[in-house]
Amino acid sequence: METIFRTLTGGPGDEETYCLAGEIIRAGGLVAFPTETVYGLGGNGLSASSSAKIYAAKGRPSDNPLILHIADIAELEPLVQEIPAAAKRLADAFWPGPMTLIFRKSSIVPDETTGGLDTVAVRMPSHPAAQAFIRAAGVPIAAPSANLSGRPSTTTAAHVREDLDGRIDMILDGGPSDIGLESTIIDLTGDVPVILRPGFIGRERLEKLLGEVDLDKTVLTKPTEDLRPKAPGMKYRHYAPKAEVTIVEGEGTPETVLAEAVRAVKEGKKTGIICSSETAPLYEEAAEKLREEGLSLRVFRAGSRHAPETVARRLFDLLRQLDAEGIETVWSEAFDEGELGMAIMNRLRKAAGYRILQAAPAEQKKEEKRMIAIGCDHGGYALKQEILQHLAKRGLETKDFGCYSEASCDYPVYAKAVAKAVAAGEAEKGILICGTGIGMSLAANKVRGIRAAAVSDCFTAEATRQHNDANVLCMGARTLGPGLALKIVDIFLDTPFSGDERHVRRIAQIED
Ligand code: TXA
Ligand code: MG
Repeated sequence: METIFRTLTGGPGDEETYCLAGEIIRAGGLVAFPTETVYGLGGNGLSASSSAKIYAAKGRPSDNPLILHIADIAELEPLVQEIPAAAKRLADAFWPGPMTLIFRKSSIVPDETTGGLDTVAVRMPSHPAAQAFIRAAGVPIAAPSANLSGRPSTTTAAHVREDLDGRIDMILDGGPSDIGLESTIIDLTGDVPVILRPGFIGRERLEKLLGEVDLDKTVLTKPTEDLRPKAPGMKYRHYAPKAEVTIVEGEGTPETVLAEAVRAVKEGKKTGIICSSETAPLYEEAAEKLREEGLSLRVFRAGSRHAPETVARRLFDLLRQLDAEGIETVWSEAFDEGELGMAIMNRLRKAAGYRILQAAPAEQKKEEKRMIAIGCDHGGYALKQEILQHLAKRGLETKDFGCYSEASCDYPVYAKAVAKAVAAGEAEKGILICGTGIGMSLAANKVRGIRAAAVSDCFTAEATRQHNDANVLCMGARTLGPGLALKIVDIFLDTPFSGDERHVRRIAQIED
C-alpha cells in the first residue's frame, strides 16, 4: 500500500487534507494523526472491520482495547451507558486534553474496538489538527498510539513513518508532540476512580477535584500472574528498545552509572547512558577520555531534573535513537517521581523490563561550601524573600546585599555589590531581581569577570549556564511568578558549564 504523506501548516490549505483524511476513514481506511500526547493511528471507531485493520497494521494483540477520540462533548453520550458525576467534573476540568476516561460502553461500540470488554475508553484531544481530523471524519476515531506493537510510542511523523509506512493509508504531520507521553487513563466504573496509566495530568490534580483516587498497583511495580493491570495494554512488553536497559536509583547513582557503563564499554558492548543535563558533564568527560583510547560511550541527555516536561517530551525519541544507533546496553538514571515524574518512570521501567539496580551510596565527599550573593531593588524585594527562603531550604549559604525594604531605591548600587562579590570569588554565583531583570543585568555586566544573564524561562536558564557560563542570574519580578522564578533559580544553580572549546573561546572574547 502506498502511504499518502501530508504536512499540516495550520493554515486554510489544510482543509483539503482533512477532507481527504475524513474520506479515507469513512471508506474504512487508516490515518495517523498528531495529538498533544503522542501520534495516534486512527480508524472508524464504530466499525468492527476498521478496528481489525488497526490491530493488523500495528501487529497488536486484539484483546488490547482502543481509545475512542471525540471532538465534542456531545459525541460522548451515544458511546456510553451513563456519564458518572465524576466524569462530568473531569471532562469540564481537563477536556480537551491528555486524559482518557473509562465508561460502561453502549451497544453501538463494537466488541472489536474494546477488545471484548463491556467498557470503553474515550478521550477528547486538544491538538487542533486532531480535532479538525475527527470533525472531518464525522465518526469517533479509534486510535492507539501510532507505533508497531512493542516499540516506543511515536512523537513525530518521522517516527510514524519508520514504523507504519506502507501499512496504512495516510500520515498527517503536525510537528512533534508537545507532551510526549500518552494520556492519563482513569477508570470510573467502580466506587473509587482508579488511575490505570499515569500521564501528564497527575494524581494530585485529580484528587483535588475528586477526593480519593487510587492507583492501579501495576503502575509502580511489575505485573505478574496474580497482579494483572486493569488496562489490558499495560501488561505487554512496551516501549522496549532492542538494548538491555537498566535503571539505576539511589544516592550514588552517577558513580554507579559511570562505573557500569565504562565496564560495559571495555567488555566491547555498544553502550549508552540516559541522564539528566545536570549530571551529563560527568559522563561526557569520561566519554571524551574513552574516545582518546578509541572507545565509544554514548551519552543521551533527557533534560533538566527541574523540568520533567522536557524529559517527558524527549523520552520516546531517545528510546528510538538507541535502536537507530544499534546500542546494546544502556544505563539510565532514575528520575524523581513527582506528578509527571511518575508517568516518566512508569514508561522507563517498562522500557527496562523492570531491571533496576540500587546504587551503593557514594563515598561522602566533602561538600564544597556554596555561597550565593543576592540583591534586588524595591520592585524585586518580595520575590527576593521567597528566593532566600528557598535557598535556605536547599541548604545553601546566602549573603543578602540589599535593598532591605520596598522603599524606592537605585538598582545599580545593589547590582554592582553582588557582581563584585562574585567577581572577587566571595560568592559562587549571584542572583539579582528588579522589575524586569534588565537594569540589574546591565549594571552587573560592567564589572569585569561578570556574565550576568537576564532570564525568564527554564530553557534559557539551562542554556546560559551551558553556553555562557553565566555567573549572575537576573530576573524580573513583574514578569515572573514565584513558582517559575524558583525553578529558574534551581536550574541556573545546578546546571554546569558545558566546557566546550567553542564556548570557552567565545567567553574569552567577551573578556578581551
Ligand atoms: O495519549 C493517548 O492516549 C494516545 C493518543 C493517540 O490518544 N493513545 C494511546 O492508545 O496511548 P494505546 O492504544 O496505545 O493505549 C491505550 C491503553 C491501553 O493500555 C489499553 O489497554 C487501555 O488504554 N484501554 C483501552 N480501553 C480500555 C478499557 N475499556 N478498560 C481498560 N483499559 C483500556
Ligand atoms: Mg500504545
